[in-house]
Amino acid sequence: MRVLVVGNGGREHALVWKIKQSPLVKEIYCASGNAGIGKIATRVKISPTDIYSLVRFAKENKIDLTVVGPEQPLSEAIADRFEAEGLKIFGHKSSAAILEASKAFAKNFMKKYSIPTAVYETFDREEDAINFIKKQGAPIVIKADGLAAGKGVVVAKTEEEAFQAVKDMFGGKFGPASKRIVIEEFLEGEEASYICMVKDDKFIPMPSSQDHKRAFDNDQGPNTGGMGAYSPTSIITPEVEKEIQEKTIVPTLKGMISEGRNMSGFLYAGLMIGPKGINVLEFNVRMGDPETQPIMRKLKSDLVEHILEILEGKIDKVNPVWDDRTAIGVVMASKGYPDSYEKGKVISGIEEAEKDESIVVFHAGTEEINGKIVTNGGRVLTVTALGENIIDAREKVYKAIEKIHFEGAFYRKDIGWREIERFKSGGN
Ligand code: AMP
Ligand code: GLY
Repeated sequence: MRVLVVGNGGREHALVWKIKQSPLVKEIYCASGNAGIGKIATRVKISPTDIYSLVRFAKENKIDLTVVGPEQPLSEAIADRFEAEGLKIFGHKSSAAILEASKAFAKNFMKKYSIPTAVYETFDREEDAINFIKKQGAPIVIKADGLAAGKGVVVAKTEEEAFQAVKDMFGGKFGPASKRIVIEEFLEGEEASYICMVKDDKFIPMPSSQDHKRAFDNDQGPNTGGMGAYSPTSIITPEVEKEIQEKTIVPTLKGMISEGRNMSGFLYAGLMIGPKGINVLEFNVRMGDPETQPIMRKLKSDLVEHILEILEGKIDKVNPVWDDRTAIGVVMASKGYPDSYEKGKVISGIEEAEKDESIVVFHAGTEEINGKIVTNGGRVLTVTALGENIIDAREKVYKAIEKIHFEGAFYRKDIGWREIERFKSGGN
């Protein structure tokens, strides 16, 4: 088979790495990839959102299966266009991708189908939003309706912060994505990610995971795309998992069918688990980054075989095998991320780190220039380890990180801290 993966981050490196292991796969391409992906796949210089060129490439190169990483091409109808040309693709049509692309859609949908989520209102006018905040008080959460690369959410501790967020958003901070906003109740608790492979009303769950969204240790600093993740997380016990499936995944898949928006691809529920039970903070129509990196480390069976069976309507036959060990991924980022940062810093030590067979280093923002691997983005690498438990995995991953160097590198030193506390107190 000839497989194309669309995207260029750490998530896509992990997908390419796993897909490459399939005995079914002869050739693997990635548009447009990064330096790490370039070592194991053929890179294609087409942007993930240049759908016209991707369709042409897939036809000309007789691609048998395309797997989409990021949300943007899905929301811009890559799956619709591929399917119209008779090309096999794992990813939702744009009619279903709206579940991530519009927070207002997602919130109205959850309300309609009684899927637990924070109480909210949507606003098109600044004045109405300000009056609502005055009525509700702080803390309160302000969200741009559209896609804003994970940056369109402000958790405001004070009313003033909330007013400012509303002004920024209606003032065009995120362009058309913030012409409409959602304001919602602040929920206390612990976040977790629950990702499934889905088709119509059926789903195959992956192991649970937990991301760390803030830039710095102790959950300080600005929100990022994610600074590290581990899998599984014991906050999702078997009972909690059952409840997540019954109260969120099943009604979502059924509700989307009722709306004529059948799903086919990855479905990611971002959850808050706390005093108000299990609530959905957001849905994503893709795998998470960096959650994918530890999750793929745990998958022992053939991802390509699973995807093909799902696409062929044989999801009941899909039975993935997962490694019992704990996987962890720590992001190494460029100084300044998530704001501005420099590029072009030479990276060394990756091979040294990977000498330990429990370690795999996935690339995100990297390029190869004159035979050297250099930084080319905010999130540069995700270093992953498999361990007997969270403590073992953490020890291994941080030992590996010490071997990797580039100017201005920073990373969180406390990835998995909640799980480690639970582990130490005998909770798992
Ligand atoms: P979202 O993109 O909607 O998942 O929001 C980004 C981040 O903002 C989440 O990962 C949470 O850390 C935080 N957040 C979003 N909604 C809420 C909420 N209602 N209460 C508390 N924190 C929230
Ligand atoms: N790690 C969070 C996300 O991918 O949205």
